[in-house]
Amino acid sequence: ELGKVGDGLELPVFAIGGFARDLLLGGKNDDIDITVEGDGILFAETFAATHECRVKSHAKFGTAVIVLPDGFKIDVASTRLEFYETPGALPTVERSSLKMDLYRRDFTINTLAIQLNPANFGLLIDYFGAYRDLRDKVIRVLHNLSFVEDPTRVFRAVRFEQRLGFQIARHTDNLIRNAVKMGFLDKLGGRRLLNELVIILREREPVRAILRMESLGLLGFIHPDLTLETENLRVLDEVKKVVTWFELLYQRDQVETWVVYFLALTSLLADAAFFEMCTRLSVSEHYREKLIDMRVHGEQMLAVMERKVAGKKPVLRSNIYFWLRGLSPEVLLYIMAKTCRDEVRKFVSLYVTQLREVTCMLTGDDLKAIGLPPGPRYREILDAVLSARLNGEVSTREEESRFVKQ
Ligand code: CTP
Repeated sequence: ELGKVGDGLELPVFAIGGFARDLLLGGKNDDIDITVEGDGILFAETFAATHECRVKSHAKFGTAVIVLPDGFKIDVASTRLEFYETPGALPTVERSSLKMDLYRRDFTINTLAIQLNPANFGLLIDYFGAYRDLRDKVIRVLHNLSFVEDPTRVFRAVRFEQRLGFQIARHTDNLIRNAVKMGFLDKLGGRRLLNELVIILREREPVRAILRMESLGLLGFIHPDLTLETENLRVLDEVKKVVTWFELLYQRDQVETWVVYFLALTSLLADAAFFEMCTRLSVSEHYREKLIDMRVHGEQMLAVMERKVAGKKPVLRSNIYFWLRGLSPEVLLYIMAKTCRDEVRKFVSLYVTQLREVTCMLTGDDLKAIGLPPGPRYREILDAVLSARLNGEVSTREEESRFVKQ
């Protein structure tokens, strides 16, 4: 369909980048990137006139996004990208070729183009050895200044390497180490660095990518004190296990797994360093407070539970409930990963799988009906009823009412 619209306008249309890469690797990509040799915006608008979809154009960049009714996105770019403004003259538009467009990309594996016009449908255009590198499982830059032009590519290299199970080519590896040594990464804005880090931590196997970042000396850019020690590495490995466990439970709540990895990775940082790091990464004030809160509450509850277990005192189900109530799933998973005590891990798993669902049947209205004056006492009473239910002392509504009357 895209190719036909291209034909109608006499424009060559290509699927490129991640889409073409993943197609060859046999995987799937969530959206498709296409490039039009010519006016991409005109193309997108023509497509929209005959197909049910929404279009958002960015005239300044010659790009558009087509969103299909099912949410599938088609990013459209034009190879007509260079605008040269000369003093006193009208802006001139230089039509750069597909090859130039592809040359500006990060790695060879992202430079494949697949033609979509019906006459040449499926024609593979491979100017820079993408096919070879996909076959040999290699991440390779196109030119020596790639990381200087865009330092986020250093993190992208690590991400693709781990995700695809590829290897960064030796020369590319050297260019990364050089960029690190020469301080090119210092220029990377906090937002962009955070963005890359989050994408890495959202991958299926973030721990391997973290180890790779450490070996390339990248962690220091996140914060100079950030290192990998036996302890946080152990916690990171545990996060992988508890996240997998949690996903298998099919709980209703969505967990931001990157947050759990982030807390684990930075668990050895002092509070002041953690704060500095958030500032360096341009974490918004609101989110920074949230992360600090998670860290602090997680550590607090972990300490409380570990002390309890060490003291060998019996622990009631209601104790577990009230320790953990109000903690987000991210913090609960962090506690499970961090603790060295099986008992504590079991407390959290009991809470996640059973206790947090427990509620008592009595409500404030019931307390009012039996003549109790409303006030903060209600909360205490209902919590006491809930404790009794958690600990198996009451199980019916009747028993709850009797419990209150005592
Ligand atoms: N790109 C680049 N330099 C960057 C970011 C992106 O050259 N710093 C190029 C890449 O060649 C990539 C394309 O822009 O193929 C689209 O970027 P993005 O959507 O981030 O990458 P995908 O390859 O689609 O990766 P993913 O599968 O993670 O979405």
